[in-house]
Amino acid sequence: MAVRTIRKEKDPCLYIKCREVKKFDERLSILIDDMIETMHAADGVGLAAPQVGVLKRVVVIDIGDGPIEMVNPVIMESSGEQGGMEGCLSFPGQSGYVIRPNYVKVEAYDRHGDLYEYEGEELFARAVFHECDHLDGKVYLRLVTDPPESAEE
Ligand code: NI
Repeated sequence: MAVRTIRKEKDPCLYIKCREVKKFDERLSILIDDMIETMHAADGVGLAAPQVGVLKRVVVIDIGDGPIEMVNPVIMESSGEQGGMEGCLSFPGQSGYVIRPNYVKVEAYDRHGDLYEYEGEELFARAVFHECDHLDGKVYLRLVTDPPESAEE
């Protein structure tokens, strides 16, 4: 396993739609292991393959319950709404208020080509939407809005 360089800011890899994975081979397995190590080393809760310069539909997520790998993820259902601060390992030192669905159900393959379904709320849902956006060349900054004003202001 190896920590890979995270692409940042204006790197073109962050703005390109990624290809589906067709081969579930050793190369994919190494990519996933490296992505998990890179995510953990950077203290992130998610990482998408284009962030390490690989334009394939692969994401890893770890919200504290251990890493989950998602190859060719497809969002099957979403509902509700949550607002909260969001950041991205490709835009260090920045964050912004983003509204996302509160619930997600997603289907994805693992490195062996077995299909799994995951569902979750709050941070998990936020991470899934954020990382899946990366696979379509979209970064969270386009979704940043003003936070709702608190009663004190
Ligand atoms: Ni990101």
